[in-house]
Amino acid sequence: MAKPSVLVTRRWPAAVEQKLAADYDVAFNRSDRPLSAGDFREAIQRYDAVLPTVTDQIGPEALEVERPQTKILANYGVGYRHIDVDVAKSCGIAVTNTPDVLSECTADLAMTLLLMVARRASEGEREMRAGQWLGWRPTHLLGTKVSGKTLGIVGFGRIGQEMARRAHFGFGMQIVVYSRSPVPSDVLRQFGATQVPTLDALLPQCDFISLHCPGGAQNAKMIGARQLDLMKPDAYLINTARGEVVDEHALAQALMFDLIGGAALDVFEREPAVHPMLAQCDNLVMLPHMGSATREARQAMGLRVLDNLNDFFQGKTPRDRVA
Ligand code: DGY
Repeated sequence: MAKPSVLVTRRWPAAVEQKLAADYDVAFNRSDRPLSAGDFREAIQRYDAVLPTVTDQIGPEALEVERPQTKILANYGVGYRHIDVDVAKSCGIAVTNTPDVLSECTADLAMTLLLMVARRASEGEREMRAGQWLGWRPTHLLGTKVSGKTLGIVGFGRIGQEMARRAHFGFGMQIVVYSRSPVPSDVLRQFGATQVPTLDALLPQCDFISLHCPGGAQNAKMIGARQLDLMKPDAYLINTARGEVVDEHALAQALMFDLIGGAALDVFEREPAVHPMLAQCDNLVMLPHMGSATREARQAMGLRVLDNLNDFFQGKTPRDRVA
């Protein structure tokens, strides 16, 4: 029997590419640049499976073709709101993602950002590299103590819980949670956490706020000027979730006028573009969407895509089917 044909839209870790190529007839996008809507339209008519990732926008213009060949979009990544899942479903195309395997690494990076912004690590590093260090002095680059402070976690899925674990057990932080769905009390108890009913209730009581909710229309600009104003004037915002959750213009203004203590971002509204005002803010740490960027997580994500493909082509329901 012919092997199913598969398109991989970006370069993957070599070991997983090899494993995939052993069982499937694979086409790789060796340019490692995002494909256009036209490329996707063609791909949907040509390949049995397309394996996209967060940089691939797959909407009706790509999916609504006369004779789709694609039966599954097996996304490399946990977030899948770059795919129009309702249209995919109506076209009879299954969609899967890769949960679990990147939660720890993404939470590690969120904690890294929290520590970097609290302790002004980027400012210190910039000063060192510019050869501007004048030596130790009692009032130089003073940051904020992290241990024992209150961390607000917005979105309490796997990554949010891993963040709570690090902050509570590693740094003795008090955890306050806002999530649209109720969190079971035994889960909250694990981290000594309390859940508040609204975002407005969370914002004024936290020293740090870390976002771990999905992106998409429902959460777009969830943190805007009004919400930033509700934060303590010395509180910090951390975003490793999705860029669209934060109104970048409002954040840049809050940072420039010192309305909050600082922010640390791994994700941006229009990646890879960055709002021009953000780059001018000293009290901001920025990383290029690196949450899951470890060899271990990126390999595990590829293997999870492969598991989903194998499930699907063996006639089973893929383990991570989202549509
Ligand atoms: C995801 O998995 O959704 C990340 O943002 C990319 O690793």
